[in-house]
Amino acid sequence: MSDGTSPALAVSALTKSYGSVVAVDDVTLEVADGQRLAVIGPNGAGKSTLFALVAGTLRPTAGAVSLFGEDVTRLRDHQRARRGLVKTFQHSSVFTAMTLLDNVLLSTQRTHGRASRPFGRSNRLAVEAARRSLEQVGLADRAGVLAGSLSHGERRQLEVALALGVNPRVLMLDEPTAGMSAAETERFVQLISGLPREITVLIIEHDLDVVFSVADRVTVMHLGAVIESGTPDEVRASELVQQTYLGATPEFSDLTQGGTLR
Ligand SMILES: Nc1ncnc2c1ncn2[C@@H]1O[C@H](COP(=O)(O)OP(=O)(O)OP(=O)(O)O)[C@@H](O)[C@H]1O
Ligand SMILES: [Mg+2]
Repeated sequence: MSDGTSPALAVSALTKSYGSVVAVDDVTLEVADGQRLAVIGPNGAGKSTLFALVAGTLRPTAGAVSLFGEDVTRLRDHQRARRGLVKTFQHSSVFTAMTLLDNVLLSTQRTHGRASRPFGRSNRLAVEAARRSLEQVGLADRAGVLAGSLSHGERRQLEVALALGVNPRVLMLDEPTAGMSAAETERFVQLISGLPREITVLIIEHDLDVVFSVADRVTVMHLGAVIESGTPDEVRASELVQQTYLGATPEFSDLTQGGTLR
């Protein structure tokens, strides 16, 4: 449990090497309770590897991860998930032949009761929680439709609903808006912005409009290392960040040179 003073997440000197490739190189960072942190950086910077180390699906070569003051470095991913650290589920966890409600029920039953007690009180709580999760992501009116009929963007929303169904305290999203239309992206930004502050959010995102809309801190990675960390304004103004991005991501140089945000 939180002691009220510990950061939601603390990563210290975290390193992951694959032979001579250092995918994550001595990364230290803290995420305050309730913060929205965006992790950005060019392709291959180490962002997804960092998330996997934090979620516990990968073992670090060195370093430590703590969650609300508890060292979880030695814990498996499911043990970290039980403590509230949830990375959005991949597409494979969405059952296309089931309704949205039934999909989310699979999540909420884990926290609110088992399927083996289908008519019990715990199951009613699970249904309520599932409906609440769908409501939070804006899919409440689609609860009865089959997941297979969703658009790409709606499916990503459903994945967030699945994550919300297990009551996350720290929610990690790896490129959630990839492949979304502009309208879907806009809706997703609203969704993330509308999440309660009890949930700390870490997001890897290439779309810098999204980053600067949702994040209150931005961490920039390059070649496995953190090269800058600060408020969106600080990061935008950073010469090092501009140098790293210039040429690599025209969108970012436009943004930093023009200074205009949508
Ligand atoms: N299993 C692996 N074996 C060897 N090298 C790996 C492995 N996983 C990642 N890498 C390397 O580690 C580095 C970081 O990869 P990672 O996927 O974390 O980057 P990323 O910032 O998420 O990139 P992208 O923006 O393209 O998703 C890359 O050089 C990648 O090739
Ligand atoms: Mg990645």
